[in-house]
Amino acid sequence: MSMGFAECAVVREGFPRPVPDTPSNVLEQFKSMRGKVVVVTGAADGIGYAVSEAMAEASANVALWYNSNDAAIAKAHGLAKAHGIKTYAYKVDISNPQQVQDTIARVVSDFGKIDVFVANAGMAISKPILDQTLEEYRKQMSVNVGGVVACAKYAGEVFKRQGSGNLIITSSMSAHIVNVPTDQPIYNGTKAFVTHFGKSLAREWREFARVNIVSPGFFDTKMGASPSALNEAYRMAVLGRQGNVKEIKGLYLYLASDASTYTTGADILIDGGYTLP
Ligand SMILES: NC(=O)c1ccc[n+]([C@@H]2O[C@H](COP(=O)([O-])OP(=O)(O)OC[C@H]3O[C@@H](n4cnc5c(N)ncnc54)[C@H](OP(=O)(O)O)[C@@H]3O)[C@@H](O)[C@H]2O)c1
Repeated sequence: MSMGFAECAVVREGFPRPVPDTPSNVLEQFKSMRGKVVVVTGAADGIGYAVSEAMAEASANVALWYNSNDAAIAKAHGLAKAHGIKTYAYKVDISNPQQVQDTIARVVSDFGKIDVFVANAGMAISKPILDQTLEEYRKQMSVNVGGVVACAKYAGEVFKRQGSGNLIITSSMSAHIVNVPTDQPIYNGTKAFVTHFGKSLAREWREFARVNIVSPGFFDTKMGASPSALNEAYRMAVLGRQGNVKEIKGLYLYLASDASTYTTGADILIDGGYTLP
């Protein structure tokens, strides 16, 4: 049962908590990224590389994690050179919890801390359940769920030790809607898991870290709309097209920076209006 006015009148020690000592000028709030250390998974291409670029452009140091696409190594060098920041590329299969734990320790040893962890990597084997093998189900679970859980668990340990941290999870509009015409119930289910997992962590970690979720609609990447679904993607999105990854950079920068100090547990759709109807 919720509290009545008498119980509400009891003052809880330590509340209200202090407002963070951040600048009131919003552009100064974004400048808070200077010197921060940001880890991005799935950073070699697509949304993850755009996020890495955004962080570098805002003068943060970036740890770019990749799995199979070693273009991340040259891209990390390019960002360091272009923006005068520190970057490293790390090869990590996020479905392997030991690799995740070891690499988080290496990042802390190389950079001294982790301010922001962007759990962005994901994959899809888009098939109806009646055509999907259990092996394909397990594979998607091991990356999209197991990988995000391992990243959150070991990054969270660092955040707790530091007394501060910021986790951003790339989920999907598929956590909100059932995609058409592509039946992909397992992928959709993995994204629904990480969305609610992220919200749950926002409460669990309330004393030391913020946690937010980004739910993209179709973006023009390797994981964007497949050729056979493209016309439907254009029709469903109110803006009539897929997103370009440059259009998602600002959202991650907002969530990573001191412009979002009162934002936690949020699940932000960025989908060109796809989920409106
Ligand atoms: N594009 C869209 O329309 C869309 C919509 C909603 C949500 N999303 C989500 O956005 C995220 C990024 O996708 P994207 O669109 O940018 O496509 P993408 O370029 O294909 O990115 C997916 C990334 O995940 C990484 N990855 C896959 N399996 C991995 C593993 N076992 N260990 C570590 N990394 C692994 C890949 O790394 P390597 O290439 O190095 O192997 C790749 O960089 C995904 O979580 C996806 O579900 C995308």
